[in-house]
Amino acid sequence: MSAAALRVRGLTAGYGKVRALRDVSLDVPDGAVVAVLGGNGAGKSTLLRALSRTLAFHGGAATAGTVAFGGRPLDTLPPDRVVAAGLCHVPEGRQVFARMTVEDNLRAGALGARAGGRAGRAAALRRVHELFPVLAERARQRAGLLSGGEQQMLAVARALMASPRLLLLDEPSLGLAPLMAARIADTVKEIHAQGTSVLLVEQNAALALRLATHAYVLEVGEVTIEGPAAELAASDEVRRRYLGVVDEQAAGDAVPAGGPVLARWEAEA
Ligand SMILES: Nc1ncnc2c1ncn2[C@@H]1O[C@H](COP(=O)(O)OP(=O)(O)O)[C@@H](O)[C@H]1O
Ligand SMILES: [Mg+2]
Repeated sequence: MSAAALRVRGLTAGYGKVRALRDVSLDVPDGAVVAVLGGNGAGKSTLLRALSRTLAFHGGAATAGTVAFGGRPLDTLPPDRVVAAGLCHVPEGRQVFARMTVEDNLRAGALGARAGGRAGRAAALRRVHELFPVLAERARQRAGLLSGGEQQMLAVARALMASPRLLLLDEPSLGLAPLMAARIADTVKEIHAQGTSVLLVEQNAALALRLATHAYVLEVGEVTIEGPAAELAASDEVRRRYLGVVDEQAAGDAVPAGGPVLARWEAEA
């Protein structure tokens, strides 16, 4: 297995009696962008929490399955060791330290850095400022004063400060205006082009399928469809259920939650 491939097998996880993931298997090859699509409550965030070993912070636990990164098991490590192994998780909801300045948020992100040392941190900061010039301009501002899109940039940037080999992104476009969502998507492309693998969780299937080479659909905690992103984007079921495309055959079916929103995003993009 290559140095930075993620391999998940038979992962089952939940919160007390609530089973949120069942027997999920998934791969992120080294250097890939892989998307996980699924509606609200499908288990997307639970999956990322299980990978970053942060489920316990949410009252959850993985009860079966294995997770390996570069051939090394991750499922016994504490969260900080997962970061040190090269996986960084950007949780849903643009979590930044609102009262801290932008630069202190970034500094906090570098604490768990894989490639430590001042030179490594300085290089990571240069990369972040090139990707998000606004974060250099607003370095001394409190993060709570940034716009929603800028806070999302900061959340991603903070994760990049640890120089991850694999970035876990939880719905980075959620709640953002279409233009800002498109900018975040461009940044994900750029981050990938610079050599970081990405596992992207999204309800916005249109955006995710444009970025990913391979995608999985999660429904009620189980993988129901997987394949090359282009194939999923062309599949009738994905188009109907996740892209809001209504064809004659599906015209009688109910419009899925989020469908019209996705269609609108497509139209505006
Ligand atoms: N902290 C939690 N405690 C209890 N149940 C939770 C918690 N977080 C999520 N769940 C439940 O787990 C399931 C999957 O949720 P989640 O992973 O957040 O889905 P998604 O991110 O796809 O919207 C849902 O049924 C949800 O209600
Ligand atoms: Mg979620």
